[in-house]
Amino acid sequence: MSPLHVTRTLPEDATDAALRADVLHGLTATPKWLPPKWFYDARGSELFEQITQLPEYYPTRAEREILADRSGEIAAASGACTLVELGSGSSEKTRYLIDALPLAAYVPVDVSESALTQAGQALVGERPDLHVHALIADFTAPLDLPATPGPRLVAFLGGTIGNLLPVERARFLASVRTLLAPGDGLLLGTDLVKDERVLVRAYDDAAGVTAAFNKNVLAVVDRELGADFDPDAFDHVALWDAEREWIEMRLRSRTAQTVKVPALDLAVDFAAGEELRTEVSAKFRKEGVTAELAAVGLELTHWWTDAQDRFALSLSVAR
Ligand code: SAH
Ligand code: TRP
Repeated sequence: MSPLHVTRTLPEDATDAALRADVLHGLTATPKWLPPKWFYDARGSELFEQITQLPEYYPTRAEREILADRSGEIAAASGACTLVELGSGSSEKTRYLIDALPLAAYVPVDVSESALTQAGQALVGERPDLHVHALIADFTAPLDLPATPGPRLVAFLGGTIGNLLPVERARFLASVRTLLAPGDGLLLGTDLVKDERVLVRAYDDAAGVTAAFNKNVLAVVDRELGADFDPDAFDHVALWDAEREWIEMRLRSRTAQTVKVPALDLAVDFAAGEELRTEVSAKFRKEGVTAELAAVGLELTHWWTDAQDRFALSLSVAR
């Protein structure tokens, strides 16, 4: 069995410096915000896995349906020998691709070391012929990929692209394009615009798992920077922004309170009802996705949706 290779391109102290900079910047801004990549410590990754199983959270099931039905077509269209997956998490749905493609190598990329090593170890156990090279890295920064056989398919699933703001998204897609040689492909999962009630419920479930996930970012700041956020002093808020076509996640302070962040020598005042923005989840339409890909030199060749048209998987090719 070939061993699991893990490369860390995020130095532990740089993560800390980046967290400090982000928290200082976000908590002193108006309105206050925190960037989403800090959701995913071991507990955050575990909570996200629970979200994917909630009755209200349809994106995972819809995308799995597409992968189950279309992985043969995806394999035929891309013929990829190397699959690079950005934000791979548990790599659970990815198995449909791994089984269908003539792969020599799988390169999962994630900031969550716990998710990567768990998924990677399971895979090398099941697929001794597959070279698995995991990268602990930030996919919004330039990536140094291992030398593996082409053609290369980059997969970005789960609708995670919707968690980037429009300017970040354009920058991100341009950097993905630099990972592709002519003929290489991008397989992109995008959640689609739909009924507001269905969308809001997916981000505000009855069991409160999404609320716990959203509040976990406070626990990360408490642990890493010695802050005294009390997660119970905030309410989870999910709302639909019809103009920007995104779901916005916020944490609303229940009372007037001051939170101390000793590592930053900072005291942050919250008014009663004041909201801290934590994440957006943009929803897409085919025309928009096609145009954003075309803007970086990627031509959309396939567009697959689930039977209920909730979620889309697109394949585009580098020219
Ligand atoms: N692809 C999986 C997981 C989606 S959740 C699925 O479809 O179910 C988003 C994943 O992206 C998490 O595993 C999280 O740790 C990772 N992630 C979020 N921001 C990231 C960043 N900037 N760089 C690398 N990974 C990131
Ligand atoms: N990529 C996921 C999405 O936008 C991430 C996610 C799901 C999420 N539920 C969440 C992020 C709740 C923050 C809070 O669907």
